[in-house]
Amino acid sequence: MTKILVIGANGSVGRHVAASLAEGGHETRALVREPATAVLPKGVEAFRGDLSAPESLEPALTGGVGAVYLMWPGLPVEPRVVELIARHAERVVYLSADVADLADDEPAVVFHQEVERLIRRSGPRWTFVRAIDFAGNLLAWADQVRGGVVRWPYGRARRSLVHERDIADVVVRALTEDGHDGARYVVTGPESLSHAELAGIIGEELGIGVRWEELPPETARAELTAAWGNAAFVESRLRAWESFTREPERVTDTVERVLGRPPRDIRTWVRDHAADFR
Ligand SMILES: NC(=O)c1ccc[n+]([C@@H]2O[C@H](COP(=O)([O-])OP(=O)(O)OC[C@H]3O[C@@H](n4cnc5c(N)ncnc54)[C@H](OP(=O)(O)O)[C@@H]3O)[C@@H](O)[C@H]2O)c1
Repeated sequence: MTKILVIGANGSVGRHVAASLAEGGHETRALVREPATAVLPKGVEAFRGDLSAPESLEPALTGGVGAVYLMWPGLPVEPRVVELIARHAERVVYLSADVADLADDEPAVVFHQEVERLIRRSGPRWTFVRAIDFAGNLLAWADQVRGGVVRWPYGRARRSLVHERDIADVVVRALTEDGHDGARYVVTGPESLSHAELAGIIGEELGIGVRWEELPPETARAELTAAWGNAAFVESRLRAWESFTREPERVTDTVERVLGRPPRDIRTWVRDHAADFR
């Protein structure tokens, strides 16, 4: 079996990718910035490297790495990273976002488009796993859930949030079996549920009362900009959520097609993360 390098192995998706690969008996390496403190699944070997210093990836890529899982954190894109991966590996699976096809100048869109473009031109076989917003984003409500009231804008916005383990399961298939070359998989949850419904489900699964309180968009804009420190990102989120009040976020059959089973639902995700809300 070929060696597989997981970049972002501590990430919310990468940690499940690394664990599944190791459980499946694949020789798995993790690129981490600090091997001494990295917490990795049993059997995964840590290699020091930093995406912002491309040459630092050489040791992790050298010695028979055939496939690479790549995620790109909030850093300027480094084309050299993709060149180095192409020099060593035959296959790359990139964690992208659903926005990758849109003509838009939002930073969150542009960097995924750029990394995808670099990979397409680089040589190895590739698969893009374009995830809808992670269910993990619901943890932004954790403090409010503990207080019993979720104050957020667009309670009627219908979202198809995806369990990070489902994204990882699709990534692992694309890394380890044939038939996924050139695929641009849009991965979503099984249904779209409104923000207000999601808050109610979190409360039900935790066994506590959680009330929805509609936050006017202008209040949300001010509060989220103060909290996130990125006005352009807040604006793009508000625009997307408003659009989902008119047309629900799409639901795809990718998980079913690739994995032969339905995606995990949001109740499962809440149960898996109950401790994070308490
Ligand atoms: N959140 C969403 O809803 C959503 C939806 C679609 C797509 N995405 C995309 O998903 C990606 C994030 O994935 P994720 O949530 O799995 O990861 P994450 O939790 O955001 O990132 C943490 C990982 O990034 C690694 N990392 C950070 N800076 C690094 C650097 N300079 N060099 C090497 N590694 C570095 C960390 O490595 P260390 O172990 O060294 O700390 C850690 O493993 C982003 O590209 C985002 O746009 C997110």
